[in-house]
Amino acid sequence: MKFFIDTANIDEIKEAHAMGMVDGVTTNPSLIAKEGRDFEDIIKEICEIVDGPISAEVISLETEGMVTEARHLAKIHDNIVIKIPMTVDGLKATRQLFEEGIKTNVTLVFSPLQALMAAKAGATYVSPFVGRLDDISHDGLVLTEQIVNIYENYGFDTEIIVASVRNPLHVLESAILGAHIATIPFNVLAKLAAHPLTDKGIKAFLDDWNKSKK
Ligand code: E4P
Repeated sequence: MKFFIDTANIDEIKEAHAMGMVDGVTTNPSLIAKEGRDFEDIIKEICEIVDGPISAEVISLETEGMVTEARHLAKIHDNIVIKIPMTVDGLKATRQLFEEGIKTNVTLVFSPLQALMAAKAGATYVSPFVGRLDDISHDGLVLTEQIVNIYENYGFDTEIIVASVRNPLHVLESAILGAHIATIPFNVLAKLAAHPLTDKGIKAFLDDWNKSKK
């Protein structure tokens, strides 16, 4: 399973990259806004650190505007993937960009039929938002399972990025279901690595070691 990091924060990206946990990066307008810096400067800096797909999202809501933004962003680096919202205009933009050889990540996906349409339009990636569904008492992992099954049934090449990940179980269940990628916030990545028995074990080893030196 590939791990993407879901952040626009350069320090977090560098830290996760040093752990070997960054196969790609996803950003969105909210994550970029949090950094208080120029969008393109951030994206360029990420491209210098990570050699993998880097998602940068368009702001336009109409197809033409999305395509214009996408062409511009795609020139920044070969690794840029254009994040397109899952709307009718977004599907048209996805199709046009597919025909131009520009990679897309269809985002804000909340139903299996949206994911099916995104794949048919030629999306490189599709991002079901599991956490936001859980927030309204729908099971985001059921959505992930349905998309995995539909894509397997019809042999789509579109890769599933499990997004809006809020906890380690989202990652575990996504891996068990066979989703291609989880895009993980830095705080959740740290939780994946931690186990109280690991900490307890390290302490016991060091205590025994220090006792033997007395
Ligand atoms: C990534 O592609 C998404 O934009 C992100 O995971 C959304 O996460 P959130 O629901 O925690 O904002």
